[in-house]
Amino acid sequence: MEWRLRSASESDREFLYALHCTTMREVIDNTWGWDDVWQRGDFNRRFGMCAVSIIDIHGRAVGGLWLEATPNYLHIVELQLVPEMQGKGIGNAVVQHVIQQGIDRGLPVTLLVVPANPRAQRLYERLGFEVTGVEAPFIHMRRAAHSDR
Ligand SMILES: CC(C)(COP(=O)(O)OP(=O)(O)OC[C@H]1O[C@@H](n2cnc3c(N)ncnc32)[C@H](O)[C@@H]1OP(=O)(O)O)[C@@H](O)C(=O)NCCC(=O)NCCS
Repeated sequence: MEWRLRSASESDREFLYALHCTTMREVIDNTWGWDDVWQRGDFNRRFGMCAVSIIDIHGRAVGGLWLEATPNYLHIVELQLVPEMQGKGIGNAVVQHVIQQGIDRGLPVTLLVVPANPRAQRLYERLGFEVTGVEAPFIHMRRAAHSDR
């Protein structure tokens, strides 16, 4: 599956919010409960802070990758694919791409996952992420910047 990343622009904001609602609602509902106003506000705040990319296949937006780059690590803030494109290896490839960016810069990759999303945690574990701590409900995961996995 040929995918590429492009920088998200203002015109992608509604697609990304709809994607957030479609893909994360159940996990968020099972963890904190879903509040539309809070979700929208938090989404807008993060949209202004992160490097947001669209995952694009042949000109069609199929997902979003939100990254926070710091001098010490790359943090995956969000990764979401439209439901019909899940389970085809794209998420795996996108995370591997971020891991490679980290390796190139000598930086680990970090992310947070919640227990309500065990499938995502399994994917990250297969890619070499390890649990570094738990701050309920968040599980902190980190993938070291070496290439021996
Ligand atoms: C998580 C996600 C980005 C993975 O991308 P993907 O392209 O579907 O995954 P791949 O096909 O590369 O790899 C398959 C693995 O991804 C995970 N996965 C697949 N569908 C998933 C889903 N709906 N939700 C969470 N994880 C999923 C599983 O570990 C799966 O392996 P398994 O079938 O052995 O359980 C994607 O499924 C998604 O957008 N899920 C909904 C949003 C989400 O949970 N984002 C992560 C927040 S931490």
